[in-house]
Amino acid sequence: MNEDTRKASVPCTASDNKQQVQIAPPLLDWYDRHARNLPWRAPPGTPPTEPYRVWLSEIMLQQTTVVAVAPYFERFLARWPRIEDLAAAPLDDVLTVWAGLGYYARARNLHRCAEVVTKEFNGIFPDQEMALLKLPGIGPYTAAAISAIAFDRPAAVVDGNVERVISRLFALETPLPAVKPKIKRLAEMLTPQQRPGDYAQAMMDLGATICLPRNAKCMLCPLSESCQAHALGRPSDFPYKTAKPERPTRYAVAYFMTRDDGAILLRRRPEKGLLGGMMEIPSSPWRDNPWDDVEAAQAAPLDANWMPLEGDVRHTFTHFHFEITVWAASIRCQDDSAGRWVLPDYLGDEALPSVMRKIIKKGLQAGS
Ligand code: ADE
Repeated sequence: MNEDTRKASVPCTASDNKQQVQIAPPLLDWYDRHARNLPWRAPPGTPPTEPYRVWLSEIMLQQTTVVAVAPYFERFLARWPRIEDLAAAPLDDVLTVWAGLGYYARARNLHRCAEVVTKEFNGIFPDQEMALLKLPGIGPYTAAAISAIAFDRPAAVVDGNVERVISRLFALETPLPAVKPKIKRLAEMLTPQQRPGDYAQAMMDLGATICLPRNAKCMLCPLSESCQAHALGRPSDFPYKTAKPERPTRYAVAYFMTRDDGAILLRRRPEKGLLGGMMEIPSSPWRDNPWDDVEAAQAAPLDANWMPLEGDVRHTFTHFHFEITVWAASIRCQDDSAGRWVLPDYLGDEALPSVMRKIIKKGLQAGS
């Protein structure tokens, strides 16, 4: 029988036909001594953190590091201590406090999810993966993580760290992403009935601190004896990956307009699409080839004495690099029809994504 067809008849044991592996006992023992102290985490062996905090942290941690998330997590909780508070907040306030974490669709879904849980579930998160999956912004990983961490249910939690740990334990040679279903099955078989919440977090910590992508610290690993990649002496080869196409570069011109009193013109982006509903410095369309000066002048939102600023702004999104030429001008018109004039001291109250903050920094430096 191969592992694709085997049922999890022996809980928390997985096999790749070469050996039986039971990792929960040594892993939990290691976690009891080395768990990271994180603001959203209950210490090992103690009752779980309340679901609102687990959910908030998991949404913030999607595609973002623990270090980057910690201050945002504290800020959200100080401002909206309960899910009902978050549900009642204006979306724009949520986007503003979120700004800098990126992937703004997550912040919109966060707000919608708070509304749904408050109105339809009386403020109480469901504890089962299937019910969690129906909520806005909650996919298979997050549903499993909330079920395991907040409710101590034996859900198989598989993120990038766990994929790495499991593909090394079993020296899986099928590359990502094709190997994902196999990893999920192995994860289900390995997940213990006892302390599944701690186990899930222990796997994350092992991936984040020991089973590192390049320099795995196998000497410190509680699972090294069961690890086939370690036995082969080449942990860094796993997981195998199908080569990704290179990120393309896109180009735009941003028009940095200031008024006599120093206010800057911002406008809101369309609701749909990248950075949807966030504020921006008015800009040309984003396209695959650079803009020459004639095109940039034609795309300008107003006639003005435009001055191109030295040195482009660069930013990288998940799927492309972005290069922005900044043109600056002083504008006499006080008209609000083109957007909203905001004084620099009040920019912190605006839902401005990181790339726009970079453009503003350049514009302000040029003017000072
Ligand atoms: N990454 C994603 N979720 C996490 C968690 N709960 N603890 C640590 N790292 C994580």
